[in-house]
Amino acid sequence: MQSDVVFRTVQNWDDYSDKYARRIQKNTSVFCMTLLNMLHYEEVENILDAGCGAGYLHQLMINQKKVEAHLYGFDLSSQMVKRAGARMKRFLNQEKIGSLDLLTQEEVDLVNFDDEIFKKINYHLSVGSVEDLSQYQNEMFDIYICNLVYQIIGNQEKAMIEAFRVLKPGGKLGITVWGRRENCVALWFLKELAIKTGLLKIRMQGGGKFLQNSDELIQLATKTGFINLVCWQQMAPFDILSMNKIEDFFNPEIEVILAGSTQEQQDIFYKSLEKMINDYKKENKPFPFECYFLIAEKPK
Ligand SMILES: C[S@@+](CC[C@H](N)C(=O)[O-])C[C@H]1O[C@@H](n2cnc3c(N)ncnc32)[C@H](O)[C@@H]1O
Repeated sequence: MQSDVVFRTVQNWDDYSDKYARRIQKNTSVFCMTLLNMLHYEEVENILDAGCGAGYLHQLMINQKKVEAHLYGFDLSSQMVKRAGARMKRFLNQEKIGSLDLLTQEEVDLVNFDDEIFKKINYHLSVGSVEDLSQYQNEMFDIYICNLVYQIIGNQEKAMIEAFRVLKPGGKLGITVWGRRENCVALWFLKELAIKTGLLKIRMQGGGKFLQNSDELIQLATKTGFINLVCWQQMAPFDILSMNKIEDFFNPEIEVILAGSTQEQQDIFYKSLEKMINDYKKENKPFPFECYFLIAEKPK
């Protein structure tokens, strides 16, 4: 599953982390929740959340895991992982509960991964890549989850081999990747609108790889040595309901396109966007995001 698309840089992910934590991860975590439900994480000792982003479900996992169990999370973007840490600190300090998404940059900057507050709950955060898990020992984890990362990395084989290595015999893998392009409107409608309204001349391929079916995923896991594969697809609608704070959904690519456009072009773009959102609302149509899921086991 080698890919030729251009991926976001670490800097892009760092810059995107505030919006991602505040607005986007609420949508994508639906898939992560499904993975967790399938993997019975409440019963195990060591859990790894690979490419955890801003750790949207980590409070839930900390509450539901066994007290002595360890939750490890890492991401390529330090700003993402620090946001996961800042959220956890708020949660543990029971401060401003209900506003876990509204982190200040100061809170984020102050996060120290070695903080005693994290050690007490067996919560371990770090910066790293799914393609190189050398920070973890062989056969360390009961569960490896990776939600929406494999489609945006350069070498999926390497990532899968590393996942296999760090899992215990009998350990479980759970990953999700983007599904069929036509069923992932939420991911590309803004770029498509930018083309339609003349802000963008050509369709650039970028940001990730869509899958037509689950064959590649199954082959990849089987080749790596995983058994008892379960694969399915699932759709989650993005909660794009109005123009209120619509900029929160603008990813780095759209921001660059808008920044390079004239005021007149931007006005046309915004007007078309408003019409599109209103039409979707009128028809009760979702902004769909489809994923392929894979659950598999390392042989005992
Ligand atoms: C779509 S987000 C998914 C985040 C999280 N898993 C979730 O469920 O919301 C993709 C994440 O992958 C991270 N990422 C990109 N390349 C990575 C890599 N090679 N290793 C680890 N994380 C990576 C990004 O920084 C970003 O946080």
